[in-house]
Amino acid sequence: MLIKCILLLCVFQVTLGRYEPNWESIDSRPLPAWFDESKVGILIHWGVFSVPSILSEWFWYQWETKTPLLVDFMKNNYRQDWTYPDFANQLTAEFFDAEEWASLLNISGAKYVVMVGKHHEGFTMWPSNYSWNWNAMDVGPKRDLIGEVGAAIRSKTKLHFGIYHSLFEWFNPLFERDRSNAFKTQDFIAAKTMPELYELVNKYKPDIVWSDGSHAADDWYWNATTFLSWLYNDSPVKDTVVVNDRWGINVNCIHGGFLNCGDRFNPKVLQKRKWENVMTLDKYSAGYRRNAKLEDYFTMIELLTEVAQTVSCGGNILINIGITKEGTVVPIYQDILTKLGKWLTVNGEGIYSSKPWTTQNDTISNYVWYTSKVINNEPYVYAIMLEWPKNNTLVLGAPKTSSTTVVSMLGYTGGNFSWKPNPAGGIQIMLPSMNVNEIPCNDVWVIKMQGVD
Ligand SMILES: *[C@@H]1O[C@H](CO)[C@@H](O)[C@H](O)[C@H]1NC(C)=O
Ligand SMILES: *[C@@H]1O[C@H](CO)[C@@H](O)[C@H](O)[C@H]1NC(C)=O
Ligand SMILES: *[C@@H]1O[C@H](CO)[C@@H](O)[C@H](O)[C@H]1NC(C)=O
Ligand SMILES: *[C@@H]1O[C@H](CO)[C@@H](O)[C@H](O)[C@H]1NC(C)=O
Ligand SMILES: *[C@@H]1O[C@H](CO)[C@@H](O)[C@H](O)[C@H]1NC(C)=O
Ligand SMILES: *[C@@H]1O[C@H](CO)[C@@H](O)[C@H](O)[C@H]1NC(C)=O
Repeated sequence: MLIKCILLLCVFQVTLGRYEPNWESIDSRPLPAWFDESKVGILIHWGVFSVPSILSEWFWYQWETKTPLLVDFMKNNYRQDWTYPDFANQLTAEFFDAEEWASLLNISGAKYVVMVGKHHEGFTMWPSNYSWNWNAMDVGPKRDLIGEVGAAIRSKTKLHFGIYHSLFEWFNPLFERDRSNAFKTQDFIAAKTMPELYELVNKYKPDIVWSDGSHAADDWYWNATTFLSWLYNDSPVKDTVVVNDRWGINVNCIHGGFLNCGDRFNPKVLQKRKWENVMTLDKYSAGYRRNAKLEDYFTMIELLTEVAQTVSCGGNILINIGITKEGTVVPIYQDILTKLGKWLTVNGEGIYSSKPWTTQNDTISNYVWYTSKVINNEPYVYAIMLEWPKNNTLVLGAPKTSSTTVVSMLGYTGGNFSWKPNPAGGIQIMLPSMNVNEIPCNDVWVIKMQGVD
């Protein structure tokens, strides 16, 4: 509710908590708590681009703009008159099992899932009334993929289910016409973007509307605040839904719900507003690439470093996996997600529902990132160690010790650690030598401190 005061006269502007179609009002909505508490989400890229499965999910655009790799690939492997839409029939999904996905996603320790409903290619992964013959029910799998995944996630897990939606489409004639009119017309918005968004929300009741593809035009062209005020006031998910910031080139990283800013945004300093680091486990592509190499994927240390830095600075991390045209999650992604889940089973106490601490990375041991949490009125500080200190002594500059300081390691059952004040300020923690059966995880360990300031 906005209250405007002129001298002593206060006008209750948005009575009954209704949001208005402007950013001041949209931004004033408190972010539903579940989102900040979740910390870890999984993004799923699946679409017609999963059929050629080479270079990236931007295949169509990259082919049209004559990227040599793709021009050669098409010349060597396909009929001369092959068009991108011809790929859709080969999005076969014959091994797709939504319940199997749900179980893997749950094992990963993530608390939410965002699935691509429509990427820039315009193909809808649900039977949209507004995407005639260019949707997963009419062509290819002949199934409602969004519906199946959403239902499996909700029936088998406690994860929140969100949908990624691209506002623009690379080659939609209506969009191209609006663009050639310098976006003074909104025919594409009226015929496609808006009906589709309302359809998605009413039909699938997503917990997140994860918008993308806004970079071609300003927010007013996309009618963003009109949609968002409906979403917040009158939609079936008005109390629980969360949105990001990709609602216009002029508002990205400024307005909306949480801030994504650019892809792979990881500022490594505390942010004022809730944000999310959207990153891809394949460093070069969100879509699955058949010719990816092992070294193209994040190692566990690299991934856990992103997790620690992101959560420490107040962010959530949205970890992308790409799906094959058959509908499978290839073993490399299964492996990473399973290991992430094992790590979070041990160390989740320092991640989920944590708050940033007064310091983000330590002043002496820069490879240590902090989070904090109050449990039963007792404040705790968690020091996430990206490396094991060389002589088993962890020297931290930021924590101020007291007579009640107690130090332990999450997942270590051999007791509390001895420590002493560091002469130059801070604390020296003596880590016991642990054998392979005692060490809680292979890499990245979390020190828990009580009674520090
Ligand atoms: C989901 O994960 C939680 C936590 O690891 C576990 O307790 C639960 O049994 C899992 N549920 C399913 C359906 O796998
Ligand atoms: C866009 O927003 C304007 C102003 O709120 C509204 O009049 C118009 O109907 C909207 N257009 C669409 C396609 O939703
Ligand atoms: C889609 O169109 C069908 C048939 O015209 C209609 O019954 C259905 O309600 C529409 N669905 C949505 C979500 O608008
Ligand atoms: C960590 O902290 C130090 C100062 O203590 C700072 O100079 C550095 O830039 C910070 N960030 C990283 C990523 O190390
Ligand atoms: C371990 O290394 C730290 C930092 O290099 C140093 O301050 C400390 O004195 C060393 N401790 C021992 C027991 O060697
Ligand atoms: C570690 O310290 C905590 C808090 O003082 C205490 O409750 C716990 O019993 C200690 N653990 C061991 C194994 O001594």
